[in-house]
Amino acid sequence: MNLAICGLWQDERCRCRFRYPQYCYRRCAKSWCRCCKSCLGAQRTQSGYADHADRSQTKCQIELHRTCSHSLTAASSLKLRRSLVGFGPKSRYLGEPAKTQEISNLKNTVGSLKRLAGRSLNDPDIQIEKDYVSAHLVDVKGQVGAEVTYLGNKESFSATQLVSMFFNKIKATASAELKLPVSDIVISVPPWFTDVQRRSILDAAEIAGLKLLRLINDTTATALGYGITKLDLPTAEEKPRRVAFVDIGHSNYTCSIVEFKKGELAVKSTAYDRHFGGRNFDKALVDHFAKEFKEKYKIDITTNSKAMVRVAAAAEKMKKILSANAQAPINIESLMNDVDASGMLKREELEELVKPLLERATGPLEQALAEAKLKVEDIDAVEMVGGCTRVPSLKERISKFFGKQLSFTLNQDEAVARGCAFSCAILSPVFRVRDFSIHDIVNYPIEFNWEQSPDIPDEDTSLTVFNKGNVMPSTKILTFYRKQPFDLEARYAKPDMLPGKTNPWIGRFSVKGVKADSKDDFMICKLKARLNLHGVLNLESGYYVEDIEVEEPIPEEKEAEKKEGDKKEGDKKEGDVSPPIFPTFLRLILPMTLWLLRGHENISRDSSNMLTTAVSKT
Ligand SMILES: Nc1ncnc2c1ncn2[C@@H]1O[C@H](COP(=O)(O)OP(=O)(O)OP(=O)(O)O)[C@@H](O)[C@H]1O
Ligand SMILES: [Mg+2]
Repeated sequence: MNLAICGLWQDERCRCRFRYPQYCYRRCAKSWCRCCKSCLGAQRTQSGYADHADRSQTKCQIELHRTCSHSLTAASSLKLRRSLVGFGPKSRYLGEPAKTQEISNLKNTVGSLKRLAGRSLNDPDIQIEKDYVSAHLVDVKGQVGAEVTYLGNKESFSATQLVSMFFNKIKATASAELKLPVSDIVISVPPWFTDVQRRSILDAAEIAGLKLLRLINDTTATALGYGITKLDLPTAEEKPRRVAFVDIGHSNYTCSIVEFKKGELAVKSTAYDRHFGGRNFDKALVDHFAKEFKEKYKIDITTNSKAMVRVAAAAEKMKKILSANAQAPINIESLMNDVDASGMLKREELEELVKPLLERATGPLEQALAEAKLKVEDIDAVEMVGGCTRVPSLKERISKFFGKQLSFTLNQDEAVARGCAFSCAILSPVFRVRDFSIHDIVNYPIEFNWEQSPDIPDEDTSLTVFNKGNVMPSTKILTFYRKQPFDLEARYAKPDMLPGKTNPWIGRFSVKGVKADSKDDFMICKLKARLNLHGVLNLESGYYVEDIEVEEPIPEEKEAEKKEGDKKEGDKKEGDVSPPIFPTFLRLILPMTLWLLRGHENISRDSSNMLTTAVSKT
């Protein structure tokens, strides 16, 4: 997960009392003001800070960006290297301090935060995650969480709470660096995140006191970072530039095919392997050395969790060395039972160990091309991001698949984070960034089901409203003809496509206040279903439409005018007298009450106050 925070100058005012004075990007002037243009005078440079944090599987990175004349320039970046939350007898450790404490505090350190958020304990994906999380995972009110000892007491925290603790750390780090309060944020998540996972991140941001401007998909953020800086994109009439973004990180492999035109990007397809990344390479190495050390030193590291963590850290180092060298050593002092363990591995041996994994390497690429209905020849460039794309055997396979040289023009570690920062700057009112529209796609089809109306026996009771590949964000109006209140349910149409055993149910909505009209006719109920910027579904509002025929007398002056007009035309239409009264239709649009019930919680909400009542004449 990556995120961007945007620093606003909420409490600061210029001498002219304009609310948000801007800062010179070189920090040479104290400040300048958009209103009185003090300090930098006539030069209309707009500058400010977008503070951006990349919080992904292994590490978290906060980048500080400043805008200046329509462009974002990276100013500095802070790396919180580890997305870990640790608990101790006296305090909490977040990020790097948690990593430092990890080996001595294994049972109270929780990682894999983003992969836990919004999942349930019995999900098969969580069973896989248990191999990578040292803390004891438990059920916390239907959601997976961790049981830890904190301040001397046994406590259970849900994944959402753990994520929010980490967000707090990011917020504090960014504020400390900027010496400004930060509030607005853009967070990136893997494209395979479902409604409940996205809501969990939204909740975590809210708990941390951050205003989430957008939840953006990882590869979409990368594509934004790529497109917004390119000045040579084709115009609307030309053939779009098609780029495949391949992101292989610590635990995820994603491929998105994106079409670029001047000022816009459209995601054509996104395919992924949720269990493919650097940690699978590390695990293969750990298993190999566990066997080797058992034979060589007669120690079984699988029985000692500290030894396992130490070997995993050494294996990761070894893997990185093997990306640039033919062979690498492993040396661990006093690994177990006072034994100093050492070994050596060649790159070919590593490739042999991860052979089954490498065979899966082209799967997401094939799927992405098939879903975009394109061939390899149609792809103009293959952009590689993510730490694991440094592995030579992966690079070779991907290059062979596309039949072209791979492109490494983006910063492999920071591309997603930078894309988030651009998105944050676009959405924030404080910045002026070149307009760039983003058309993402729906990854899982969503259907609505409803009770059949007793008055319409042949009525369908379900409809897929958002199909896979539909543009996101998007709004659809659902029309119902009803004489009584009714309920409808939103759910994912194809549960097998969802990660693990995610409950396909999204929410239940009750539409109240429906009744037959004065002529015992159906009421026309219109419901606005929206898949918003975050990729979260909501029935935003509802209204019913009523057409009423009324007779409206013509005002006297109008009647006189009308008669005069008739006189002028009198030669043509003699004796034609217009009626003094004619019918008018009044269309009444009235608000509707929606009761919303969703996911694991039961939220009951009267949204009528959000709706507008309008009476319009047609
Ligand atoms: N030179 C290298 N050779 C091989 N692997 C590397 C190299 N550098 C980094 N990695 C691996 O890349 C992974 C981290 O990549 P990245 O930072 O993109 O992941 P992430 O964004 O944290 O994870 P994800 O996107 O899966 O949630 C780690 O497994 C790391 O060991
Ligand atoms: Mg990543």
